[in-house]
Amino acid sequence: MSSSNRIRRQFASDNYAGVCPEAWAAMTEANAGHEVSYGDDTWTEKAANLIRDIFETKCEVFFVFNGTSANSLSLASLCQSYHSILCHELAHVEVAECGAPEFFSNGSKVLLLGGANGKINPAEIDRAVHKRDDVHYPKPRVLSFTQATEVGTVYSLDELRELAGVARRFGLRVHMDGARFANAIAALNVAPKDITWKAGVDVLCFGMTKNGIAVGEAVVFFDRELAHEFDYRCKQGGQLASKMRFLSAPWVGMLKDGDWLRHAKHSNAMAKQLEAGLRGIPGVQIAYPVESNGVFVRIPPTAIKQMHERGWKFYTGVVTPDESRLMCSWDTTPEDVDAFVADLSEMTKASS
Ligand SMILES: Cc1ncc(COP(=O)(O)O)c(C=O)c1O
Repeated sequence: MSSSNRIRRQFASDNYAGVCPEAWAAMTEANAGHEVSYGDDTWTEKAANLIRDIFETKCEVFFVFNGTSANSLSLASLCQSYHSILCHELAHVEVAECGAPEFFSNGSKVLLLGGANGKINPAEIDRAVHKRDDVHYPKPRVLSFTQATEVGTVYSLDELRELAGVARRFGLRVHMDGARFANAIAALNVAPKDITWKAGVDVLCFGMTKNGIAVGEAVVFFDRELAHEFDYRCKQGGQLASKMRFLSAPWVGMLKDGDWLRHAKHSNAMAKQLEAGLRGIPGVQIAYPVESNGVFVRIPPTAIKQMHERGWKFYTGVVTPDESRLMCSWDTTPEDVDAFVADLSEMTKASS
């Protein structure tokens, strides 16, 4: 069998996966008749209410097309142009959004913080805030952090409380990039409220695309005053979907019976299986603790080349230099993992 037939599912990105059955069924149902446009429809109301139920609080919810717009528009709503946004040096808002947070905030500066394993070291917030305190420095206004992180690690409840606590002490607003929020909840096994509003998070960009829907992320304002005129910001930013129900209906499909967590638990479990397999291959090193659905790994360059020639797709050096990122999805199977591990095992033997 040719490699392209044999390799059904790739590990390059959780965006490579298709739409899961629950999201697809809700889209089909939403397609049955006519509905009011621009978000005044019953699906959008239902999806927003399900999100309120999950977080056990009254919050303002907006659906936008993707994670970049969710992050950049929500950050813009927290800042004036002379403010700054503090985030980890590997944060998606810094390295993978083409300057959209700066653009939509009319120039708020992103300031970078260090920290091991993709997590912000709280002492770095102190350093950035106190670097200068005069009018010549862009005034620190927001701490943005990613949960699960860009390298697949997850802030524990204590780490997260400490981080948000430090931010609050310095008068910073707290923004969470939750492109893989479901994977973090599945990993921590906590109530969503515990790592969000109860811990001091003001706004969450709640992703679901990487967990099985086609398109559409939710911006969730726990501090509801911060949502003031956010609808105008969405419209101006080209993020108000006319047929909004097709963004929101999949959320209903995912949330109503808990399938969002089932899928996230599954992709996390596949990452664990992948980690175990990779650990058994001499010359291959796991770069970070595997805590969600991503595995970062150092693979000898000849083996990378041979894996690509065999048909496997994955990225090397995109998030972190010299490290390959392997992402598991809601539809990754144990057999996919075994096939990848078996091929890599063969390649590393051949190249050693
Ligand atoms: C941490 C993180 N935040 C946000 C996003 C959303 O990006 P996009 O605009 O591609 O939906 C991604 C996607 O890769 C991500 O990994």
